[in-house]
Amino acid sequence: MNPCNLTQLGVTRESPWAVGHFNIHNLEYVRAVVRAAAAERSPAILAVGMLSIKYMGLAPLIQACQTISRETEVPVAVHLDHARQLGVVREALDLGINSVMFDGSALSYAENVEKTTEVVKMAHDLGATAEGEVGIVPHGAAQVSAEDMTDPARAVEFAERTGVDFLAVSLGSVHGMKRAGTSLNQALLQEVHQQIPVPLVLHGASGVIDSQIQAAVANGIRKINVNTGLKVVLKRHLTAHLASRPESDLLDDFEGGMAAVAQSVAQRMRLFGSSGKA
Ligand code: 13P
Repeated sequence: MNPCNLTQLGVTRESPWAVGHFNIHNLEYVRAVVRAAAAERSPAILAVGMLSIKYMGLAPLIQACQTISRETEVPVAVHLDHARQLGVVREALDLGINSVMFDGSALSYAENVEKTTEVVKMAHDLGATAEGEVGIVPHGAAQVSAEDMTDPARAVEFAERTGVDFLAVSLGSVHGMKRAGTSLNQALLQEVHQQIPVPLVLHGASGVIDSQIQAAVANGIRKINVNTGLKVVLKRHLTAHLASRPESDLLDDFEGGMAAVAQSVAQRMRLFGSSGKA
């Protein structure tokens, strides 16, 4: 069955748990996430983002995810993260990706609706799922301004007009935080969740404290995006390991790095409640 799309992962608007979306950057990352998913009996999303495509190439990353996800029985989706151009969406779908996110948050609302609708059609024509975003989850900002947070009425209209399968909302998280210290607007989340018929997505989860993640799952978040937190774990592991074992074989260094990432992914799966759900 692998790789599969987001609706085939088993998570729904009503599930009392969320699936983890883990940004991958190379073969080792893909193996680490898939190993954690298999060990935890958890569904997982392998996410390919724009910086990773620049670093490693779109086709090599998608093909690595497809090949390695076939080695496990637990459901694994391959997902394009934060596409801002229709061209990259087309290319990824032509390579057989199962899910795409169009990030129109920098566009006007009307343009965001128009382009996201087009992406949803492109994806659905091929049996893939699509995620859109309403509101702005900033990159590296100190905090989210009130006008960047998701407006519930807009979110309802956006979901209806575009037909997205999953909707990313802005609740106070910020992309790229190396340490967790952020809380979310849980009341806003409850309001949006009550009104929207599709599962909601939390971006920038690395900066959000664990108790707020758990509350967000209780209040309606069903997909949780993690990138920076795993990079921090891997870098910290490699820095300490290389300082203490400078003569070690490079493949053992990589193996240890994969184990560190897998352990962190598994911890997050338990936090999100997805362990044992596959
Ligand atoms: P972080 O890098 O803050 O974990 O955010 C990841 C993300 O939202 C990817 O879409």
